[in-house]
Order: sequence, then structure tokens, then C-alpha cells
Amino acid sequence: MNVAKTIAEVRAARWQDPLRTWGLVPTMGALHEGHLALVRHARAENDRVGVSIFVNPIQFNRRGDLDAYPRQLERDLALLEAEGVDLVWTPDEDEVYPPGFQTYVAVETITQVLEGAARPGHFRGVTTVVAKLFNVFEPARAYFGQKDAQQVAVVRQMVRDLGFNLEIVVGPTVREPDGLALSSRNRLLGPDERQAALVLYHALTAAQDIWQRGVRDGSALRETMRAIIGAEPLARLDYVSAADPITLQELHNEADRVLLSLAVFVGRVRLIDNLLLGDGANE
Ligand code: PAF
Repeated sequence: MNVAKTIAEVRAARWQDPLRTWGLVPTMGALHEGHLALVRHARAENDRVGVSIFVNPIQFNRRGDLDAYPRQLERDLALLEAEGVDLVWTPDEDEVYPPGFQTYVAVETITQVLEGAARPGHFRGVTTVVAKLFNVFEPARAYFGQKDAQQVAVVRQMVRDLGFNLEIVVGPTVREPDGLALSSRNRLLGPDERQAALVLYHALTAAQDIWQRGVRDGSALRETMRAIIGAEPLARLDYVSAADPITLQELHNEADRVLLSLAVFVGRVRLIDNLLLGDGANE
């Protein structure tokens, strides 16, 4: 496995054989089964697999969150090596944002709600770094997890708007046996908080139950999730949403598809989760 630091090293490895197709899995490290599932998906669909590991400072809007983000490069590299990854980019901050950096990519409308409203500037940081990753690797396909549903919608919008020549592939959310969605932040939870964190999945599946029984009213779906989160003493609701999966506008009328999503503080740890229901849903 080739581990590159600079853009020049990535390009040299990437273009060794121009006829090979590349799949890219962008990550911030602290890898878990969710990332590895995306790597395997990329492995199955491409000749070569590249992974980036970069804790992107400009997508964090709270310094404490950036500092607390788990970092474990040696372990990550060992996991990727075992998956047969061809190339890993682990750039220093200056390589991604050289001195004098002043060019950003911003998707305007669908970034105003949900995670975008709760974390101003977050998606501008994501799209800027993802655009740079696409330029550096020039992959045929890039792999993202459904766990970050809004990120998927925003990156897809950017790819459409700017004409990036690649396919976005979305992998299903990987969960613990009890339903908790895998996240690098889960390791920041204490034992009681880990138990309380199940409330996200319980809220989503309760709303899914009423959807399956025919309830199509966005307010009823949101209210069901809100009530379940409200009953967990260690949890504090940030937002709850039942929205159109593409425009991310809250549903008020009947719809065939809905993206249920929520963000909840469990102790000091902010967790997100979602379920896509209806036509074309992947869960
Ligand atoms: O999902 C993530 O881990 C990050 O937002 C990404 C896509 C690697 C960009 O920094």
C-alpha cells in the first residue's frame, strides 16, 4: 500500500496506469466498519482504491470538536492495508490549504437547513475539501455513507452543478447489533451515554413504524421522534426532521418518500442518524 503525503505523490501513483479505474473513499480517519464497508464496495467496483485520511479543520465550527476528534493513523493504515487499499493520502494541513489559500466551494440552498443550520460553515468546509480530493485523485467513483445523508445530498448537488466527471456511490448506514449507527464519535460516549444513545435509533424506528402503518404526515413523524428523545434524560434534542430526501425541505403534505433525520446531544457528544423511507429507499 502506497502512503502519500503530497499531491504530487498521489498523482504519480494515480497515473501510473491511466487505464485503471479508481474508487475514492474520503475519510477523516478513526476508521470503523462503516468506512471499511465503503472500501470493500469500492474494491468490488474499481481496479484501484484510494482513501484519504484528513481531519478537515474548516468543516468544524467548534474548536473543541476539532481537538476532540479521534486520531489513530497507525491503526487506520493497518486496517486499510488489510483491505487491500492501493493508495492512502494523509496530507498535512498546508498541503490541502497552502499559505494564502482563499478559494472555497459553497452549495447554497440545501446547506441552509438541518446540519447546515446547526453548524454554520460546515458544508462549505466539506465541499471545498471534497472538491479538492476529487481534483487530486480524479476517481471514477467516490463513496459516501448514508449516515451523513445531508452530506450526500450536498456533494451530489456540487457534482451536478460543477460537472465533476465521477459517480457518487452511497453505502447503507452500518449499525451495531442494537441499532446504534457507527460513528467515530461513539467512542467519546461513557457507558451510560452509550446506552442512552440508542434513543436516536428508537426514535427513527418508531417513526418508521407509523410510516409503515400509513401515516404520511410530516408533523406526526417529527412529533413521534421528538417525544421519544424527550423521554431520555441524558439526551438533548438539537433537531428532528421529516424532509424531502433531495430538497431537504420539511414535509407538510403527503409524500411517497421521506428522509427522517435527527441530531441529538448525548452528554457532550453530538450524534446524528437518519432513515430513508419510501420509494427507492435503501434501508
Ligand atoms: O464524512 C466525512 O468523514 C467528511 O465530511 C469528509 C467527506 C471526509 C470530508 O472531510
